[in-house]
Amino acid sequence: MHLKGSAREVLAWHIEAGVDETIGNEPVDRFALRKPPKALQPAPQQAPKLVSAPPASEQTDAVNSALPLRPAPGSATAVNGENSVRTSFELAEAATNVAELRAALEAFDGCALKKTATNLVFIDGNPLARLMFVGEAPGAEEDRQGLPFVGPSGRLLDKMLASIGIQRVDVLISNTVFWRPPGNRTPTPQETATCMPFLERLVELTDPDILVTLGGPAAKAMLGETQGVGRLRGRWFTYETARMSHPVDATAMFHPAYLLRSPGQKREAWRDLVAIQHRLGGHAGER
Ligand code: URA
Repeated sequence: MHLKGSAREVLAWHIEAGVDETIGNEPVDRFALRKPPKALQPAPQQAPKLVSAPPASEQTDAVNSALPLRPAPGSATAVNGENSVRTSFELAEAATNVAELRAALEAFDGCALKKTATNLVFIDGNPLARLMFVGEAPGAEEDRQGLPFVGPSGRLLDKMLASIGIQRVDVLISNTVFWRPPGNRTPTPQETATCMPFLERLVELTDPDILVTLGGPAAKAMLGETQGVGRLRGRWFTYETARMSHPVDATAMFHPAYLLRSPGQKREAWRDLVAIQHRLGGHAGER
């Protein structure tokens, strides 16, 4: 297509058309350009124990993409180049508080998403909150601001929370991966597995009373369930890692992005929020 006008006008046209990345005309196989990493010894890891309660709802799933989940032994990723034997497990486990965990993530070069992202998107809200939400991955606005759920999905999430009298400062919000996937694609199994030790450590350190996954990929990653959110929502699970002294109640909800596309499902989402509020005993916020 031939475009007239100044470079600024052409750029504005592209932005309006939704173009948010610069790519070349020819595809580049970047895996082929890299040297294969040396074998690493991953730190031993125990998968979280999960206990599923009987279903309260048997609806069909609307958000059901295949994602896996726990990093398999041997899938640990090199940090700061192939000479490093430190793994994402080791880095995450070494963090003794949320600030150290953020610093560990900032220093971590083992996730390919970091190369294309503008900012690390770690957490928002209150690390002392009783209620924690985990979404899928940062989008464009989150990447710009370095905060999770600050775009259209985040605005709906804020309204959903407000409907049960909760504000963003009363909850902790994070994602299964900490950098925006290019073009907002679903994170790959490898990307999710690489970030998972940091997310698990975040749950361990913040010790929420209730963990809520938003959308199919987050439910699969955190709850280890293969069913879609339509079947998982309305049910309670327990989430526990090897280092936690007690399990956390966990449940799944539709992702706000899905609710924006399918407003008919908001009624179910509101039921889920009321169930969460009930489980909190009407008191969110700090312990
Ligand atoms: N969607 C997500 O899953 N997470 C965000 O942070 C924003 C949108």
